[in-house]
Amino acid sequence: MLMDLCELSPSYVRSIAPYQPGKPISELARELGLKEEGIIKLASNENPRGIGPRTRAAIEASIAEVARYPDGNGFELKQALARRYGVDMGAIVLGNGSNDVLELVALAFLGPGRAGVYSQHAFAVYPLATQARGARSIVVPAKNYAHDLDAMAKAIDDETYVVWLANPNNPTGTFARGEEIEAFLRKVPERVIVVLDEAYNEYLTPDLRAGSIKWLKRHPNLVITRTFSKAYGLAGLRVGYALAHPTVADVMNRVRQPFNVNSMALAAAAAALDDMEFVARSYADNLQGMKQLEEGARSLKLEFIPSHGNFITIKVGKAAEVYKRLLKRGVIVRPIAGYGLPEHLRVTVGTAAENDKFLSALAASFRE
Ligand SMILES: Cc1ncc(COP(=O)(O)O)c(C=O)c1O
Repeated sequence: MLMDLCELSPSYVRSIAPYQPGKPISELARELGLKEEGIIKLASNENPRGIGPRTRAAIEASIAEVARYPDGNGFELKQALARRYGVDMGAIVLGNGSNDVLELVALAFLGPGRAGVYSQHAFAVYPLATQARGARSIVVPAKNYAHDLDAMAKAIDDETYVVWLANPNNPTGTFARGEEIEAFLRKVPERVIVVLDEAYNEYLTPDLRAGSIKWLKRHPNLVITRTFSKAYGLAGLRVGYALAHPTVADVMNRVRQPFNVNSMALAAAAAALDDMEFVARSYADNLQGMKQLEEGARSLKLEFIPSHGNFITIKVGKAAEVYKRLLKRGVIVRPIAGYGLPEHLRVTVGTAAENDKFLSALAASFRE
């Protein structure tokens, strides 16, 4: 009899529930026999603006070098980030998306007999990364959909080595102000790594941008993660980074694959970082689009969770059903029952036309 090869992996790996990505446009087109052009995807918090011309030019120029391995240390991108944020290059860890950097934290600091703390409704990679290392998850109930930072600080036990915070959080879009995060950091013992995941930082209004980077000096256990996937429009190339104390960055770099960020991604990210105008436009578009979706939800008398990201989570009732009806109309959004929110759908802010199409499809789905 054939052996169940799955049994060979540790039980904590076998019990992992795989990450559920947004449905690709091509998949829905195949399933429903629709034309790809008629489908919109507002399911993965991507940038509807695409990329700017300078970033495109950098990507095109990088094609000439694809036969060579990339610079495994990402010198140019690190130099640009170090300049931008006033940190040493040794304080930066580059990743294949910020997802990779989150995994590096887990690889470096978690394992059997250790624990990671995160909030209910927090970004799905925290449970995945914690569990894949055989570490225990300590899940803290959310308060009004948001991280309950006091309860999270209290939940830290002797086995806790990592606390995961998403600010803003995905999929709730909730946000904790700088003072609250600082107060939290003061409560956390120095031996516990605090990951402050700021994937949506560029979408915050200026008054809310806390300047978390200055906290790194006071809190050597702080790891800030950011990404080029959202406001910079580079989700498909996969590049993100962590800023941390050089000792922490060093440990993370030891468990990193030598060439974890590809050469096109490195070139694109360096160019995108420089294109402040593109990011500013993405920010402005997002504010506008968010307003459109909020007004649309209000006019359909639907509750939503006020969001600080480039997405909004709307309470639609039987979300799995509504999701399917939207698919039939060529609109892909994200069901989030897996996050403990079976009545909500998460919708990425798209272009004005996409937001309109989503809102009309949603209204029509309620009339069905
Ligand atoms: C809160 C949060 N962190 C991290 C990521 C990972 O993004 P990436 O790996 O593309 O940088 C995402 C992606 O949706 C996210 O929502």
